[in-house]
Amino acid sequence: MGMMNNDILKTNIAEMGLKNPVLVSSGTFGYAEEYKELFDVNKLGGIITKTITLKPKKGNASPRIMETPCGVINSIGLQNPGVDDFIKNKMPKLKEIDTAIIVSIGGSDTEEFEEIVRRLEKVRGIDGLEINLSCPNIISELVTGFTEESNLLIAQDAYLTFEKVRAVRKLTKRTIIPKLSPNVTDMVSIARSCYDAGADAISIANTYSAMAIDIKTRKPFLGNIIGGLSGPAIKPLTLKFVWEVSQTIDLPIIASGGIMNYKDALEFIIAGARAVAVGTGNIIDPKLSVEIIKEIEKYLNENNISSIKDLEGAIET
Ligand SMILES: Cc1cc2nc3c(=O)[nH]c(=O)nc-3n(C[C@H](O)[C@H](O)[C@H](O)COP(=O)(O)O)c2cc1C
Repeated sequence: MGMMNNDILKTNIAEMGLKNPVLVSSGTFGYAEEYKELFDVNKLGGIITKTITLKPKKGNASPRIMETPCGVINSIGLQNPGVDDFIKNKMPKLKEIDTAIIVSIGGSDTEEFEEIVRRLEKVRGIDGLEINLSCPNIISELVTGFTEESNLLIAQDAYLTFEKVRAVRKLTKRTIIPKLSPNVTDMVSIARSCYDAGADAISIANTYSAMAIDIKTRKPFLGNIIGGLSGPAIKPLTLKFVWEVSQTIDLPIIASGGIMNYKDALEFIIAGARAVAVGTGNIIDPKLSVEIIKEIEKYLNENNISSIKDLEGAIET
């Protein structure tokens, strides 16, 4: 047996150290409460919490989640208790977990983002903020204050993206990570806006706008009609975005899209991601992320790679 190398999986996103590159993605791990009972959550590289908004949100009409042959369509609609409840009731327990805590924030306008960030600034134990600019399930609310007729998400518009990221940047020194939408023609231009606005990293990507119809009733399956597709179906699509953005924009990437095993995770890292976030995979198997961490370590050892960092963007083209 060779020497133990405890640093083999260690990495970082700007100032934020990560014990390993495997995180859990927003909305698929709640605020970690239920998961604490199931396995040792301290082993995770990081936890990205369910998106919080300024005020509590009840979410969309049910049904809000359905299975497709190769994935899941959800239209939860950012159900959450609001920032104050999060600070009072969720953060004290999250803070105790020995891993990076990244709080996902969402808003319909710049002022909402600013107010959430202000309130979070006073709270200890937060390592980073993921700025959710890309939830496909609350389109009509997100465009308030822009053009009422348009169906644009913030992350579908380079200027709106710049404006929100800049506003957050001005209020915090914490690591900030805008989360982008895959429903775009040119993600690189949106990622460039993030860079120009002072983001520390980018999260690629949220779910793909999608729908399904019940042919018996001829009604849409989801209460909200449309939702977001996640799971294995989207992995090759999101992989392409990660590769494309990493070729052009000099920011670390957290990749999420259909990661169901360690091979998927490694593909994203080789394509150019610094870290990965497991989403739908958690719903199927809560312990999947820790399995992936073990398997990545094994792969590195077997291939004589001394640091996960050496694999980032190691694609041979
Ligand atoms: C049930 C469900 C809820 C989600 N909620 C959020 C959310 O609140 N905020 C967010 O940024 N992404 C949310 N997502 C998107 C995931 O974080 C992830 O980016 C996406 O599902 C792609 O990864 P996956 O294919 O591994 O699930 C949600 C996804 C699912 C399936």
